[in-house]
Amino acid sequence: MSEQTGLIALLGAGRMGAALAAGWLKKSRNRVEPERIVFIDPHLSDAARALADANGVRCEAALTPAIARQVSDIVIAVKPAMVSEVLSPLKDHLPENALAVSIAAGVPLRTLGRALPGRPAVRAMPNTPGAIGKGVSVCVANEAGDGPDERARTERLLKPAGPVEWVDDERLMDVVTAVSGSGPAYVFLFCEALAAAAEAEGLPRELAQRLAVRTVAGSGALLTSGQGDASELRRTVTSPGGTTQAGLDALMGGGGLPGLVRNAVAAAARRSRQLGSDSN
Ligand SMILES: NC(=O)c1ccc[n+]([C@@H]2O[C@H](COP(=O)([O-])OP(=O)(O)OC[C@H]3O[C@@H](n4cnc5c(N)ncnc54)[C@H](OP(=O)(O)O)[C@@H]3O)[C@@H](O)[C@H]2O)c1
Repeated sequence: MSEQTGLIALLGAGRMGAALAAGWLKKSRNRVEPERIVFIDPHLSDAARALADANGVRCEAALTPAIARQVSDIVIAVKPAMVSEVLSPLKDHLPENALAVSIAAGVPLRTLGRALPGRPAVRAMPNTPGAIGKGVSVCVANEAGDGPDERARTERLLKPAGPVEWVDDERLMDVVTAVSGSGPAYVFLFCEALAAAAEAEGLPRELAQRLAVRTVAGSGALLTSGQGDASELRRTVTSPGGTTQAGLDALMGGGGLPGLVRNAVAAAARRSRQLGSDSN
């Protein structure tokens, strides 16, 4: 990857933006020099201010033309409704090759292209666990943003939130939104249901919650430990005729959980498409 020397402007140092920046600033071989970073946020949170102060990162209320001219990478982490408004004034000032990486949910490449004509742009969808480095991001680039250098720069910017995946067809972002974007809420719901069932079977509420949380968290950790994929791990813990088998039979009977999840993903993807067409 070519070494960029321009500024990295973080537009919106909120929950997700500040979490990304904390990753850029972590002491490691890939650390981004603090003098290359500028936080642009009119209402900097205490946490973002503390991160900036601890590392000597410059903070500004707005991206002025003078700063914009020095920017090589801009990470857009404001609320989706703000994106056009915050980008439009920059179009005459950002360098032609400045890479715009937007994590604003549902904001299409078309909107980024309209606000910053001709610039390489990437639409990325991180997810909530990304705020603690345990997420996954899926990206799609416009034509100018689809080179190896732009991909490498994008990955470096998003890596703090977790691994980075790519799709070539922007329409797939609706499915991505329905799976990894909305997926954490499905898992949280499962955790709530497991705790409620434990309580209904007689466990004290607090213990029921602790068991459900550790079961979901530990199973997630096992899934990413390389000891097997989900169906292998499931088979390993399921003895024929045993207790787990009895529980799984109840979960899978009559379409059960797989059918429900299929419907949930389809409904969320449909909603994402609808929101995308409403915003045109
Ligand atoms: N959090 C997640 O898990 C997650 C997951 C996927 C995608 N995303 C996307 O990430 C983006 C940020 O989400 P978030 O949860 O980090 O939101 P957030 O905490 O509200 O962060 C947005 C930040 O932008 C600031 N801001 C408002 N107007 C601005 C302006 N004109 N210029 C610069 N900064 C401005 C906000 O300040 P005020 O609060 O004072 O308005 C806030 O600090 C959203 O587009 C969201 O769709 C988030």
